[in-house]
Amino acid sequence: MPSIQWDLTMSTGVDAIDNQHKQLITWLNDLLAAMSQGRGRSEIQAVLAKLGGYAVTHFGYEEDCMTKYKCPVAAQNAAAHQDFIATFNSLGEEYERNGASAHLVVRVESELMRWLVNHIKRTDTQLLPCVKSQLA
Ligand SMILES: [Fe+2]
Repeated sequence: MPSIQWDLTMSTGVDAIDNQHKQLITWLNDLLAAMSQGRGRSEIQAVLAKLGGYAVTHFGYEEDCMTKYKCPVAAQNAAAHQDFIATFNSLGEEYERNGASAHLVVRVESELMRWLVNHIKRTDTQLLPCVKSQLA
């Protein structure tokens, strides 16, 4: 499977946020590579642990930027972050209950892919015109 590359369709206009998104893409690519080599199950605990820390630091930073730049989707963005945290908390609970099942690996991969396409590309990128208008 070809790896996912960050591109301008994901640009938010804030380098720090774009770099955090690139980090997430790196983890997703690592997971996809592990899955293609049949070792997705051995990676899943580390992925869940990384996402826990990521959610705390990245989401907070991005929400502050949306407020600062008066982005119209700031509240929608914060609500989506809460949904992401709830989803990954429940996946973490599934890990505690059933361990690193193949089903869990596929769920984590598909949730991250969905996040990239539905959230980063559609909601986070709405920061870009807000940043540009304040710099103009
Ligand atoms: Fe976001």
